[in-house]
Amino acid sequence: MARLFSNAVTLSHKFIAEVVCLGDTVIDATVGNGSDTLFLAQLVGATGRVIGFDTQPSALERTGDRLKEVGLRQRVSLIHSGHENLTKHVKEPVKACMFNLGYLPGGEHSIVTLPGTTKAAIEQALTVLERNGLITVVIYTGHTGGTEEAAAVAEVVSKLPQHLWDVAEITFPNRKNHPPYLLTIQRR
Ligand SMILES: C[S@@+](CC[C@H](N)C(=O)[O-])C[C@H]1O[C@@H](n2cnc3c(N)ncnc32)[C@H](O)[C@@H]1O
Repeated sequence: MARLFSNAVTLSHKFIAEVVCLGDTVIDATVGNGSDTLFLAQLVGATGRVIGFDTQPSALERTGDRLKEVGLRQRVSLIHSGHENLTKHVKEPVKACMFNLGYLPGGEHSIVTLPGTTKAAIEQALTVLERNGLITVVIYTGHTGGTEEAAAVAEVVSKLPQHLWDVAEITFPNRKNHPPYLLTIQRR
C-alpha cells in the first residue's frame, strides 16, 4: 500500500491529476525549478498548454532547458512576470492552476512570494478557472512573512460562496518545523 499523505506537494499532484485531461490549458503560477511545470506538461499532452510564471529569469531558463531535454518545451509558455499579472497573460479558461509558495529551494531566499501579490494572483486565477477546475496552493509558514501570506490566502478563500466553490485544506498536525500544507479550491 502506497503512502497516501507523504507531503503537500505530492498531494497537490494527485489532486491535479484527477481533474486535468489531455488538451487542457493549465497554469504553473510559481515555476521555480520546474518540477510542477514538467508534471503539468506531461498531463496536458501534446494538444494541451501550460502557462508558467516566475519573477526569476534563471528559474525560467533552467525550466526551459529541463523541458527541452524531455521534448516538452513546445507545449509550455514561460512568462517572466509576477503571477499578480496573471489575467494580463491568460485570456482563455484554464482547468488548473498550481501555486507552490515561498522561496526557491537552493535559490535566493529573499526572493519569496508575498501576501499581497499571492492574494491578487489567486483572485485572478479564480476568474479564469473552468467548471470543476482546481487551484492548489502549497503554503509555507516557516520563513519570515509566511504566516502573513497564509493569512492572506485564508482571507481570499473565506469569502468564496460555498455553493460555487469547494475549498479544502490538508495539514500535517503531527509534523515538526512548520510543514507546508495544501489548500485546494475547486469551482463547482
Ligand atoms: C517554492 S518555489 C516554486 C517551486 C516550483 N514549483 C518547483 O516545482 O520547483 C517559489 C517560486 O515562486 C517564485 N515567485 C516569487 N514571487 C513570485 C511572483 N510574484 N510571481 C511568480 N513567481 C514568483 C520564486 O521566484 C520561486 O521560484
